[in-house]
Amino acid sequence: MRAKPGVSIWRADHLPGTKKGAGNQNLDIVLLLSTLYYLYLIFNRITVTLTTISRRDWVNQAIEIIEADFNRSADTHLVKLNWPVFDCVDIYLKDESTHPTGSLKHRLARSLFLYALCNGWINQDTPVIESSSGSTAVSEAYFAALIGVPFIAVMPKSISCEKIEKIKFYGGECHFVDSSAQIYQAAENLAVELDGHYIDQFTYAERATDWRGNNNIAESIFEQISKEPHCVPHWIVMSAGTGGTSATLGRYIRYQKFSTRLCVADPENSVFYDYYNNADRSLKIEKGSLIEGIGRPRVEPSFMPDIIDRMEKIPDAASIACLSILETRLKRKCGGSTGTNLFATLKLASEMQIASQCGSIVTLICDAGERYLDTYYNPQWLKSNNINTAPYMQKLAELESGNMNALFNNTENQNIT
Ligand SMILES: Cc1ncc(COP(=O)(O)O)c(C=O)c1O
Repeated sequence: MRAKPGVSIWRADHLPGTKKGAGNQNLDIVLLLSTLYYLYLIFNRITVTLTTISRRDWVNQAIEIIEADFNRSADTHLVKLNWPVFDCVDIYLKDESTHPTGSLKHRLARSLFLYALCNGWINQDTPVIESSSGSTAVSEAYFAALIGVPFIAVMPKSISCEKIEKIKFYGGECHFVDSSAQIYQAAENLAVELDGHYIDQFTYAERATDWRGNNNIAESIFEQISKEPHCVPHWIVMSAGTGGTSATLGRYIRYQKFSTRLCVADPENSVFYDYYNNADRSLKIEKGSLIEGIGRPRVEPSFMPDIIDRMEKIPDAASIACLSILETRLKRKCGGSTGTNLFATLKLASEMQIASQCGSIVTLICDAGERYLDTYYNPQWLKSNNINTAPYMQKLAELESGNMNALFNNTENQNIT
């Protein structure tokens, strides 16, 4: 048999050990090696293809698991706050504490995981790392466990024990740093070290959620309030951690062309309020917010100032004083950020009442107070953090007895809109 030019024929006498000249033998070894090399390449190609297919299968399955979990979930309630002193303003609280992982961050964690999976950033052996003040980490630990990937939360060491226990309950690990300002770099470093994925809520919160609808929090609020006397809220009030929830609310309001305005409440030790007023993106502070989940030491990428109609700076003592109002009126404990939301809401309601504007205001119960028994509900903790709620309890009592100016400082003008 003659070989065509460029085509080698594999014959038994090419094998080492068969009789032939030295030159031929070298050629045979080269041929053998190149054939083995080709076989190796083909094997490699098959392995890569099979791995890609099995990765895609895994991603498909992970998405299905998350979607099925969503399908089993019910929506959160829109609770009406009974407050007879406001006879023409109705206040509603969207109760996000009833999600399976206890906070509004359940929605975000689901969106962040779906976003990362659909971007090809997480597969079956990717450790997931997050920087968090706790609530997001609890919810993400839940979703990581659902799809079976390891999860590590990087958090300031001041985080509440309840949240740490919850993260561990879902199989997550906790990595502590001294302050909130250190969580970002530590999470990034850990992701590099472990060859993992830094899920980065502070960057991706605003884009992982579908702000046009798809049963996001804004769509749900407008749907649930649609049969109330004031079915388009005059205000929606929210505080900001990533800024993701306020971004979804603000964009949805604009997209649907509602007249509703968005007010964002900021606690002490946070740069959002100053950034909103002076547009300085480089603002930074060292001390972390005492109100867990909200207030940040830097301007977060997900915070969208241009869709916010107004911001309110709320003293921490005022936020915590509001927790007792919620306990009296709802018979339940709420987290600190809900107090911040409520204080800003009561200011707006007072303004509307003074201006004889009738309408509704919606705000959020971000999480439940049982997570904070060691902090906001602990007089010792309040004392050691120099928080005196008494002056605000007094103001709130005055408001309850009908003084609509009670929450404004003497020097503060009521910003009637
Ligand atoms: C308890 C609590 N309230 C409010 C927020 C703020 O939500 P967002 O991150 O969407 O601004 C967070 C965020 O982590 C939170 O944990």
